[in-house]
Amino acid sequence: MIPPQIIDKIFDVAPIEEVVGEYVTLKRAGANYKGLCPFHDDKSPSMSVSPSKGIFKCFSCGEGGNIFHFIMQHEGLSYPLAIKFLAERYNIEIEEGQINVDELQEEARVKDGVFACLEFAKNHFYERLNSSQDGKIIFKPYLTERGIHQQTIDEFYIGLSGLKKDHLLHEGIKNGYSVQQLFDAGLVKKINENQGIIESNLRDTFLDRIVFPIFSISGKVLGFGGRIIKKDTKAPKYLNSPETIVYEKRKELYGLSHSKQAIRKNDTVYLVEGYMDVVSLYQSGVENVVAVSGTAFTEDQARLLKRFSQNVTLLFDGDVAGVNASLKHIQTILAADLNVQVVLFPADEDPDSFIQKRGISDFYAYVKEHSKNFVGLIQTVTLNDNPTDPIKKAEAARTIAENIAALPDPLKRAAFITETSNVLDIPERIIIEEVNKFRVSARNLKDREERRNQSNISSSSPDGPPPDFVYQPDYHSGERSKNEDAKNYQEEELLKTLILHADKEFEEGVSVAAFIFKEFEDEEIWPVSSEFSAIYREAYSHFKEYGTFGEYFNKNYETGKLAADANPDRHSLSKGWEKIYEKYVKTDNDNYKSQVIDNLNYLKLKHIDNLMRENQEKIKTAQSTEDIIILQQNHRTLQEIRKKITDQIGTVII
Ligand code: UTP
Ligand code: MN
Repeated sequence: MIPPQIIDKIFDVAPIEEVVGEYVTLKRAGANYKGLCPFHDDKSPSMSVSPSKGIFKCFSCGEGGNIFHFIMQHEGLSYPLAIKFLAERYNIEIEEGQINVDELQEEARVKDGVFACLEFAKNHFYERLNSSQDGKIIFKPYLTERGIHQQTIDEFYIGLSGLKKDHLLHEGIKNGYSVQQLFDAGLVKKINENQGIIESNLRDTFLDRIVFPIFSISGKVLGFGGRIIKKDTKAPKYLNSPETIVYEKRKELYGLSHSKQAIRKNDTVYLVEGYMDVVSLYQSGVENVVAVSGTAFTEDQARLLKRFSQNVTLLFDGDVAGVNASLKHIQTILAADLNVQVVLFPADEDPDSFIQKRGISDFYAYVKEHSKNFVGLIQTVTLNDNPTDPIKKAEAARTIAENIAALPDPLKRAAFITETSNVLDIPERIIIEEVNKFRVSARNLKDREERRNQSNISSSSPDGPPPDFVYQPDYHSGERSKNEDAKNYQEEELLKTLILHADKEFEEGVSVAAFIFKEFEDEEIWPVSSEFSAIYREAYSHFKEYGTFGEYFNKNYETGKLAADANPDRHSLSKGWEKIYEKYVKTDNDNYKSQVIDNLNYLKLKHIDNLMRENQEKIKTAQSTEDIIILQQNHRTLQEIRKKITDQIGTVII
């Protein structure tokens, strides 16, 4: 625990414009400052620094927070270390033991070793492809045959793994790396799971494969993807590094290190399925391309892309697997508030084979002609030959509604609902109802997952040793982790609303904060069991003491980041959307009252659902008939309340 006085002292002496000003040239712009954002390759100043609020926010890549968040991000430090960093810079004394950093340093040291190991492997593999007999006679010719130039091999550092099962193991040891480091890097794996990490129990992860290093955005090697070129083998065609302390699959995208400039420049990114697609498109001059590499597309990846562009175009195979994959990815992309287009390639072609055969101008022509938004895609896929079949039409409407429901932005939802209604010739009202159904059930689903995760967590011992990473050689390994969605959305959304509008008037003489807290009391819906409970509690005691919030939320560690995130100015509309928004955008600022109602309703719904579930449990175990009758009466009452709430949500969702 870091003493709060220290944090307060730092806030007092370290104005945000000065802290940020050490790294970025800031220019005054009204009450704020503007500068080039250091967290992405900013061309024109996108970062705004607000001295009055004590927060910074980049409108282009989304980074934001208070002074500590800035230092954490820029210096790559943890929260305690960022505090220490600023305390030292501003000569604020910290007593021995007030901030414990030993543990963190240990982790940093281990990571450094792993990075060094991976870098070594990258160079070694690359040398092997270019200089060994196997490389020159067998593997390089394979790449040449597939149209890959030497320059591309150099740029992507494509290499060749060992052909013997302990090749890299020996090379690594010879070059001074420990077996533990090689293992931690995912470069070698255990032969017998139950035995230790000793040389005799280890073998190379990548055998007999062309290897593609997977780079972080800043160019560090995190792992590899390896392609086998033998045909007569049961081994999977591609093998990816396992998850390690430096490689979390769901957070990385293959190719981004190379393509980020081009993505920014073109303000669009092509999302493809494989390593070869990236390399091949890049070589042909389509440089704004990344791949998901055989895993599901995750929220983290969507957020990562969003730092560079809001516009994603999926380039997928036109076969069933490709269509299904793109439908799955679309929801995640839409949920991250990105704009998405889909291009399906003819059967038996992928972007790689297409561009190798037909060249870049045919490629662009094809993309232009076949781009569809999700409404169009689902319409085509579902209705293909039968555009008027009523059953198919209902099916298409439902799938589209499900995707619209994933859009976080109510204005976009409204626009797509209109489009769907026009395209399918179904009344808007019906589509709205359908969308609302999905939104309500999505929230309930999140709740259920969250409960499941909570019970998982409590049933396994939290202090036990961490499990070894699971070695996952096959396709679709590293799917999104189970608790990725374990979040208290209702609590979080309401909290953001509170942070943004706390002191504004809700009704005459009643602020938004006062109203929300009163609802908590009256309806007995205090958030007590979410990760936000403590934040609410602290905010409430602040409120009771002072009556208003002022700068409170911006300075607090947890809420500071949420405050920057929830910044209402953040909407930088992409060009296409400006037009669609025109008719709605004016009201966006006055929307906070319905936001308050809306979010409170979702929270109430969650509570009602909990009560109903508890009641159901009681019915199951009830002893007497009287009890059962009373409990059933309860059930009906709860049902009625629930209906009232969902009806109200139905009318305010869009
Ligand atoms: P594809 O089978 O479509 O391969 O898998 P590709 O990219 O066209 O590769 P080439 O052209 O045959 O060399 C697409 C992606 O799915 C993952 C890989 O990331 C691959 O790039 N994949 C595929 C696996 O992880 N394991 C596999 O066994 C196959
Ligand atoms: Mn291919």
